[in-house]
Amino acid sequence: MAKASRTFVCQSCGAVTPRWAGRCESCGEWNTIVEEAGTTGGVGAGPAAKALKGKGRTIELVEMSGESADPPRYESGMGEFDRVTGGGLVPGSALLIGGDPGIGKSTLLLQVMAALAARGQSVVYISGEEAIAQVRMRARRLGLAEAPVQLGAETNLKDIIGTLENGTAPDAVVIDSIQTMWTETLDSAPGTVAQVRASAQELVRFAKKRNTAVILVGHVTKEGQIAGPRVVEHMVDAVIYFEGERGHQFRILRAVKNRFGPANEIGVFEMGEKGLGEVPNPSALFLGERDGGTSGSSVFAGIEGTRPVLVEIQALTAQSTLGTPRRAVVGWDSGRLSMVLAVLEARCGLSLAGQDVYLNVAGGLRINEPAADLAVAAALISSITGKPLPENCVIFGEISLSGAVRPVSQMDARLKEAEKLGFSRAILPAGAARTRGPAALTFTEISDLAGLIAKLAAGGDKGSGGRRAADM
Ligand code: TYD
Ligand code: MG
Repeated sequence: MAKASRTFVCQSCGAVTPRWAGRCESCGEWNTIVEEAGTTGGVGAGPAAKALKGKGRTIELVEMSGESADPPRYESGMGEFDRVTGGGLVPGSALLIGGDPGIGKSTLLLQVMAALAARGQSVVYISGEEAIAQVRMRARRLGLAEAPVQLGAETNLKDIIGTLENGTAPDAVVIDSIQTMWTETLDSAPGTVAQVRASAQELVRFAKKRNTAVILVGHVTKEGQIAGPRVVEHMVDAVIYFEGERGHQFRILRAVKNRFGPANEIGVFEMGEKGLGEVPNPSALFLGERDGGTSGSSVFAGIEGTRPVLVEIQALTAQSTLGTPRRAVVGWDSGRLSMVLAVLEARCGLSLAGQDVYLNVAGGLRINEPAADLAVAAALISSITGKPLPENCVIFGEISLSGAVRPVSQMDARLKEAEKLGFSRAILPAGAARTRGPAALTFTEISDLAGLIAKLAAGGDKGSGGRRAADM
């Protein structure tokens, strides 16, 4: 039953509430709730639709199998950046790059723009945060002072778009950052949800209209979301995060949404004296700092996007002095850690109730794969028992709540990467890989978590090299 009622809609997340509030309960944003006209049939139902009058126009339907040209691309020549964007910037597309302040977004984009300019593209860099002198200083430091990049320092969106529309539109534009932009049509201050949304909308429209690739820089809140309305993420064609631990030199560019390429693809960079350098072989770097022979460390053979990446997982367990023991995780999901701990306790009788547990993914990488379960469990078991894992060994597998170890995707690619980097053995889920894995590796197949504990206990006793028994 539709009844006439007032509806209030959060302009950030779209949540519908029956009454106005200063703060949206669903996304936590302030001053985003606005009354919207229309009758509703209850919360979430939206305005009641009027019956359609007359016939609609007939649209042309085509076969799926038809030919359509791939979108053209502006390649920057920075392989790691091009990979994450799916092969370069697409003209007329809008891209959002989010990241913590100081992580290196401006540095990256200045380098990308300079690379594009060097390849003959016309590019514009608009900074709303820094003065021209600051941008120039950074360019000098990066050795890019002579790059044919047009600079602007402005926050008034009308002036920016007016300037860009004057004459031929550039091939690519960077807006650094979207939170500093404001338009006169709204009363609210720059950085507010309404301003960010309106500015983004205007810039996306400009991108489509003039066939320019527009890159928006977005700051990230403490919760890790791009500040401002979530709707900006829906408006753009690609959302890319630039992440990394501040103390580490590694920076990871990760596509979380991409209409023109694979999502979840990563690019790895290293922040140095002369800006960001590409890291074409991240495994070697992530493992470079490893000191073998210590307990509580395992090497996970993971897949990031389309690429295999080997990374060290470190665990530390220590007697807790607190009523509720600490569970601290860097680079992995804490809920997933709790699950692995629960399975260890319930299925294997390995209790960590009175222990603080620390888990760290080395190098500042963030892992999202369930395939890391087994590597995490191995690192934990190794920390508890004080026995190092076998040397030169990679490990992967998903753990189910029953304690069973499940096969994971792309096992071949994982094993090939391990072989390439000089690993000699692999602990992996039972069954699947045997037939096709590279011959140079020794496999230890695990069908459940208790089996892993037994194998590790047995293996650790045999010689310090851990190389002897072929079955371990
Ligand atoms: P910046 O690009 O300004 O970060 P964001 O735009 O994401 O806020 O990067 C700032 C940091 O990068 C700053 O702490 C200094 C460091 N940095 C280097 O280490 N080397 C360099 O060559 C440059 C330009 C910056
Ligand atoms: Mg910046």
